[in-house]
Amino acid sequence: MPELKIVGKTRVKLSGRVQKLEISPTTAVLQEANQLKRQGIDVIDFGPGEPDFSTPENVKEAAHQAIRENFTKYTEVGGILPLKQALADKYKKDWGAGYDAAEIIVCAGGKQALFNLALALFEEGDEVVIPAPYWVTFPEQVRLAGAVPVVAPVPEHERFILRAAMLEPVLTSRTRAIIVTSPNNPTGAVIPEEEVRRLVKLVRERGLLLISDETYEHFSYQTDRAFSASALRDEALQELIIVGAVSKTYAMTGWRIGYALGPRAIIAAATNIQSHATSNPASISQKAALEAITGDQGSVKVMKAEYRRRRDFAHAALAKVPGVSCDLPDGAFYLFPNVSRYLRGEVRDSAAFAGFLLREARVAVVPGSAFGAEGYIRISYATSMELLAEGIRRIEEALRKIKN
Ligand SMILES: Cc1ncc(COP(=O)(O)O)c(C=O)c1O
Repeated sequence: MPELKIVGKTRVKLSGRVQKLEISPTTAVLQEANQLKRQGIDVIDFGPGEPDFSTPENVKEAAHQAIRENFTKYTEVGGILPLKQALADKYKKDWGAGYDAAEIIVCAGGKQALFNLALALFEEGDEVVIPAPYWVTFPEQVRLAGAVPVVAPVPEHERFILRAAMLEPVLTSRTRAIIVTSPNNPTGAVIPEEEVRRLVKLVRERGLLLISDETYEHFSYQTDRAFSASALRDEALQELIIVGAVSKTYAMTGWRIGYALGPRAIIAAATNIQSHATSNPASISQKAALEAITGDQGSVKVMKAEYRRRRDFAHAALAKVPGVSCDLPDGAFYLFPNVSRYLRGEVRDSAAFAGFLLREARVAVVPGSAFGAEGYIRISYATSMELLAEGIRRIEEALRKIKN
């Protein structure tokens, strides 16, 4: 029975849908971190999953221009044609994949693209396979759509690299789709080309959909880009949906522009949902995203080089912390160290460990449990070298207080 909340004299019944949502394990730590910051306490924040760089100047200028030209009204629900065309050109150039405008939707962030897709595709009785560690939003969106998220663990000893064979044991007659992300949030793992090929083969053989979230595509440190499933697109087959965003690549998290490319019937359904939810993404942001994608890419190179430098530095510093082990990830801007050696007594799980670091080290991290992986923490290195050095030094100092 849905819980009844008393608000003033009114009895409010929250929907069963909302009650099925998990309470985010990150909330408690984040609230505590914010409270400490408000008290003027110097907390080093390794929590945020967003670039610390400013949006590139050419992109900001395109937005100013859009305002000056009064490009400030409703647009087409699924995004303006020049932006869809720019995305089609990008996927053609990068991956040889041919998409036309009817196979593309532009949304308010990658998150809305994924949400539209979940509502368009899943319902009661469906199962959606999600490899863990996963981005927190995937299972919740599947639940909001009424379906069941089925978690397939990807082990640390495989460097958290998803292999198609790991998914086979959890596939059932109710499985509708698999949602993967590469480079991965929170592990930074990148799925190699041969494994993307196996995943696509698997969904083809089983008649499933593959939703490939490629939000961090540019932040792949072994190659120019993480291999995109779009390269394997076969126009006769309808099993692939690519999701991306300008949010991380161009340091544009606040502008809220993401997109999906896929079969036209699915894109039309997602567009229909969007038309009744938020209408078009912000007109000004669309113009900014158009410049981001078609303009000078120099800023992406600069940011990528800096992330790589920070990754190498933070990884080397963490490797010196006794009892903490961490693989060197190939992508994104996160480290996902194993801290299980410290989990005992009061610090019994990763959420308690994150609380301990906040109180003892004044460092905020996200517990692994938020990503379906107990025994780990996520450290975002989208912050300065100085803060990385000082934060990891503080972590090491605090851990000396936990007896080994
Ligand atoms: C894996 C992944 N996908 C999608 C997104 C969505 O990004 P946005 O909605 O800001 O474009 C994020 C953001 O954290 C992410 O980590």
